[in-house]
Amino acid sequence: MTDATTTGAPVRPIRRVLGIETSCDETAASVVEDGTTIVSSVVSSQIDLHARYGGVVPELASRAHVELLTPVLADALEQAGSDHAGRGVDGIAVTHGPGLVGSLLVGVAEAKALSMAWGVPLVGVNHLEAHLFASLLEQPDLGWPLVVLLVSGGHTMLIEVAAPGEYRIMGGTIDDAAGEAFDKVARFIGLGYPGGPAIDRLSPEGDPAAYAFPRSMPGDGYDFSFSGLKTSVVNRVRKQPDAATADVAASFQEAVVDVLVTRARAAAAAVGARAICLAGGVAANSSLRARIEQACADDGIGAFLPSRALCTDNAAMVAAAGHWRLVHGDRSRLDLAADPNLRLVSTV
Ligand code: KG4
Ligand code: ZN
Repeated sequence: MTDATTTGAPVRPIRRVLGIETSCDETAASVVEDGTTIVSSVVSSQIDLHARYGGVVPELASRAHVELLTPVLADALEQAGSDHAGRGVDGIAVTHGPGLVGSLLVGVAEAKALSMAWGVPLVGVNHLEAHLFASLLEQPDLGWPLVVLLVSGGHTMLIEVAAPGEYRIMGGTIDDAAGEAFDKVARFIGLGYPGGPAIDRLSPEGDPAAYAFPRSMPGDGYDFSFSGLKTSVVNRVRKQPDAATADVAASFQEAVVDVLVTRARAAAAAVGARAICLAGGVAANSSLRARIEQACADDGIGAFLPSRALCTDNAAMVAAAGHWRLVHGDRSRLDLAADPNLRLVSTV
């Protein structure tokens, strides 16, 4: 697709998009071609920086993005055969929300500067929409409608996707996000940060039926609640300090996965979804992946599980979502703002 500048002069078609992601504690840049081929993807995690505090410290995160973004960008551009002049890059996509405002601002400011310097269009991308596009990078011919279970450190949502850009939020958490529950429980039982991968690794050594933690499913719809589960784990460990950590981890994980799978399955049935798609950091969880695959097979629908690297925050998904937006004519101006509370809304 070729579009025109305001003077009517043709500009180059959008093939290669540079994506920039700095919404939380990953500094990432990636070049994606035609919205589906990852040419380069560089992710620098700040996990070590935040681990000693047991969670992301916003002020430290934004300072680290300032230090890391330039080398991460240089790396992603070099691996894509480009350079500091943006040779071969046709557009720039940047996460502008939701997330930590100071962190978002670092990426947004850089993206604006590069767009101006290189003379290529800029588009602000919703981080949640970017997670939805992670699946499309590996499965470009996904059928619609889909139900996406988006489970990350900040969000737990069931979203009906009728087509790219057409979203309906069916349900979400009324308190903690699933990833947040993993992180808080892991910290309490001494597994460190980030908690999700630690609980995932330890759980196979424990008995998932050792403790019957509550499976809270608020309301008749598709909402979630994890704070009662977290409290129940804390109470159990306080009452029984010698409980095997692996049993607690496995039983907690089993409870989270049970409710996620039950509600995702019901949501998919309600809208006649052709598949359930996982997105977000918690989608890297081995038990969730296995259980969703089994549930979808039982229900005769597809299961799309992005590779683990594409589940957690990365810039390839931002570039993919940005490519779709740019070829559909979306352009952000240089006054694009970072919006920590940006909502996912349909745009078509
Ligand atoms: O999507 P993401 O990288 O960042 C946000 O946008 O939040 O998700 C990070 C979250 C963290 O809470 C982390 O503990 C969780 O995803 N996570 C996992 C696993 N890998 C990451 N949770 C459960 N099992 C995993 N294997
Ligand atoms: Zn994320």
